[in-house]
Amino acid sequence: MDILVTTITGCQDILADEMRELGFKSFEVERGGVRLNGDLKDLYKLNYCLRTASKVLIQVYQGHIQTPEDISKKAYGVNWEDYFPVDTLFIVENSVNQNKQIKNDMIVNMLVKDGIVDRFRKKFNDRPSVSKDEFEIKVFAYILKNNMTLYLDSSGLPLYRRNYKQDLKFIAPIKEHLAAIILRHMEYNPGMKLIDPMCGSATILTEASLMASSTPPGYLRNFYSFLYFKNFDKEIFAEVKEEANSKITEIPQLFQGFDKDRYTIITMNNTVQHPIFQKSIQLDIKNIRKLDEDYSCENGLIFINPPYGKRLDTEKNLDLIYKDIGDKLKNNFKGNTAYILTGNLGMIKKIQLRSEKKIKIMNGPLECRLVKYSLF
Ligand SMILES: C[S@@+](CC[C@H](N)C(=O)[O-])C[C@H]1O[C@@H](n2cnc3c(N)ncnc32)[C@H](O)[C@@H]1O
Repeated sequence: MDILVTTITGCQDILADEMRELGFKSFEVERGGVRLNGDLKDLYKLNYCLRTASKVLIQVYQGHIQTPEDISKKAYGVNWEDYFPVDTLFIVENSVNQNKQIKNDMIVNMLVKDGIVDRFRKKFNDRPSVSKDEFEIKVFAYILKNNMTLYLDSSGLPLYRRNYKQDLKFIAPIKEHLAAIILRHMEYNPGMKLIDPMCGSATILTEASLMASSTPPGYLRNFYSFLYFKNFDKEIFAEVKEEANSKITEIPQLFQGFDKDRYTIITMNNTVQHPIFQKSIQLDIKNIRKLDEDYSCENGLIFINPPYGKRLDTEKNLDLIYKDIGDKLKNNFKGNTAYILTGNLGMIKKIQLRSEKKIKIMNGPLECRLVKYSLF
């Protein structure tokens, strides 16, 4: 199978490092992803074990399109019936770039869908169904200029959907795969202490906990589109899970989070009680300004993802928040390394500390910086 593993644009080298650690040797790194040729075991392992990936796609077609009508014709030409059965719910998603003829992206979904449906009808006098709300199979059409690539998305739901967060109503959480990427940038090692004084939904802490205990990111997930593929092999998937799960180890309480928002901490306290986190995370309601002077940690990592003043429109006094962060880092966290993730580049100077490194990183559509401070 021709496999494309995608990640956040710019983070492909981090993904490649993780793949090497998982034992993958032969692959090509490209912008936003990694390409390889793999078998079923590889496909399941990539989906179940990769922390920094977004999706695992299988390429089923690549070629030239002259007109929008070619989209259906080319989709018709793919042997979909070898990949999934007719009694399946499927959806199509797309990304169209630099194609002047396609004015409306939605038309691409329709044309690909028509090609797939016509093919099944012709072969079986029956067709797979399409529903907006539910799906088992996801087809992804990528158009760049006059080239179209069709993929079967073996993950279905993005891999950052780890299925451990009970509530998604938090203000501006970072995605789980972004947290895993940040942990790699921070050179987090299992055994290290990690504190997040503005933890929100505690994504960095939960990801670090899974990493420290070698718990596979797919451990709680029960949906993957490959489960609905014709060639799904239960035994191979069980083998992959068993191999990965056998590496889970016990860890002590290493992770601490604070947030001034009561609702966030109460809700997240329920989440972090889940046995997969092994009581390794402690969360408390606290304004960073009120962190006790004698509260400290040594040789650990501090991660702060303060409000940017963009998505969190209600946040006032941004200047003050960033100044408080600087003060606390200076006074409470000497001997540690701190990282600030912010999309508000103008606020970085309010921290009033000399930064050691600034890493450009995309948080969804927002261009952010991960800024490193060594606190002496
Ligand atoms: C961008 S969100 C953090 C999101 C988090 N990284 C996650 O993955 O969910 C910023 C958080 O800072 C918290 N916050 C803002 N001002 C604070 C303060 N003075 N002390 C503590 N927490 C604060 C907000 O309640 C919010 O949860």
